[in-house]
Amino acid sequence: MAKQKNVFFCKECGYEASKWMGQCPACKAWDTFVEEPPLKAKEKARGRGLFMEPELLAKVSTTENNRITTGLIEMDRVLGGGIVIGSLVLVGGDPGIGKSTLLLQICRELTDKQHSVLYISGEESLQQIKMRADRLGTFQGDLLLLSETNLDNIEEILRSRKPEVVIIDSIQTMYKEDIGAAPGSVSQVRETTGVLMHLAKGLGITIFIVGHVTKEGVVAGPRVLEHMVDTVLYFEGEDKASYRILRAVKNRFGSTNEIGVFEMQDKGLREVLNPSEFMLQGKPEDEPGSVVAASMEGTRPILVEVQALVCQTNFNMPRRTAAGTDYNRVNLLMAVLEKRIGIQMSGMDAYVNVAGGMKINEPALDLAIVLALLSSYRNLSLDEHTICFGEIGLTGEIRGVSMAEQRVLEAEKMGFHTCILPKTNAENIKRTNIKLIGVKNLKELNRLFT
Ligand code: TYD
Ligand code: MG
Repeated sequence: MAKQKNVFFCKECGYEASKWMGQCPACKAWDTFVEEPPLKAKEKARGRGLFMEPELLAKVSTTENNRITTGLIEMDRVLGGGIVIGSLVLVGGDPGIGKSTLLLQICRELTDKQHSVLYISGEESLQQIKMRADRLGTFQGDLLLLSETNLDNIEEILRSRKPEVVIIDSIQTMYKEDIGAAPGSVSQVRETTGVLMHLAKGLGITIFIVGHVTKEGVVAGPRVLEHMVDTVLYFEGEDKASYRILRAVKNRFGSTNEIGVFEMQDKGLREVLNPSEFMLQGKPEDEPGSVVAASMEGTRPILVEVQALVCQTNFNMPRRTAAGTDYNRVNLLMAVLEKRIGIQMSGMDAYVNVAGGMKINEPALDLAIVLALLSSYRNLSLDEHTICFGEIGLTGEIRGVSMAEQRVLEAEKMGFHTCILPKTNAENIKRTNIKLIGVKNLKELNRLFT
């Protein structure tokens, strides 16, 4: 009998190939191919015994209230207004970022409201989960825990108990016995997710799947699953900063790019309902090089402080750094400043930083970066009640950006008096009490600030 040939998968994106490759042709990642045994036809049969008849569109009932609110406002916002019954949600993130903590807190909120919830962990023992729960506070409702990694057993339990919400922590520890590959392999995570999808849709159970973002090893990352699930959320954060951002990158039931902001404390995650206030904590007053920008995260305006330090260089090549924003963009903006308004930046070291550890790659931040650079260069501080936003083009023109009104309203809410913004945006904003200063190009901006 001919020997069955193994297949190769990209553990980043799940691309399948018959031979090993150095670079994945699909996601362009290097050295991500792993070898796995091939799936047999019968192994691919997902979700045993879930046979459904076709139904008329007009007869399909949609109950008005097919969402459950989690009780965490930030979480509900990211999901598009609560948990959709029967949906499959992937929660990805680096190990240790707080995925298990977040989901356990959601379990607490749901069980407090008498929803039936089952938390299945393949990573921690029941004692460990209990210890974490004790740290989070009292659980009033009845939360069911299970320490299990065999998906066939899990399927059995879901069918008999039919909980409303199930947490699978994490998908990389789950396995189906009849698949030859090891837990965490591309075949296993795909097949187990396929089964969970059928169970979610067939039984009307909402399932949250935790997926670790893996850097090395042979474990498949959550991106492999993105196309299979209804909603993809990523939990992100900086090592040193305590805040965490939950971001929807795909949502069949709501808008993407929504974010929820949390802060990791010693008693679990606390919701940050006013991220602007949080980000502007500790901002220096009346200091050169510090400017507040109005940026957008999805549909949500967030004010952040942009700092710059410009000083004479002691090296042949000036040093430049950019933390929290794009390094190349900062270099480009410095070149535009030099060319368009004749500021000698080439002999200067420049350090730009978005304070608070946020990462913002929006072009609307350009104006703030330029103002911070100018302010530090001239050692002049900007009025502390002024904010700004706007994109800067290569000819020095200041271009309009989207959602200008939301940005201005957020600034007003946070007590700012003046806003420097692109002229085209300024002309279209009607209702605000803030003083708007519309600028067309860098020359106008320069005249304003000398
Ligand atoms: P965890 O939820 O276990 O991360 P993940 O499931 O994404 O791997 O979070 C672990 C980290 O969070 C750990 O470093 C400890 C910290 N933590 C707190 O700071 N406060 C808390 O109340 C809890 C439960 C955890
Ligand atoms: Mg965990």
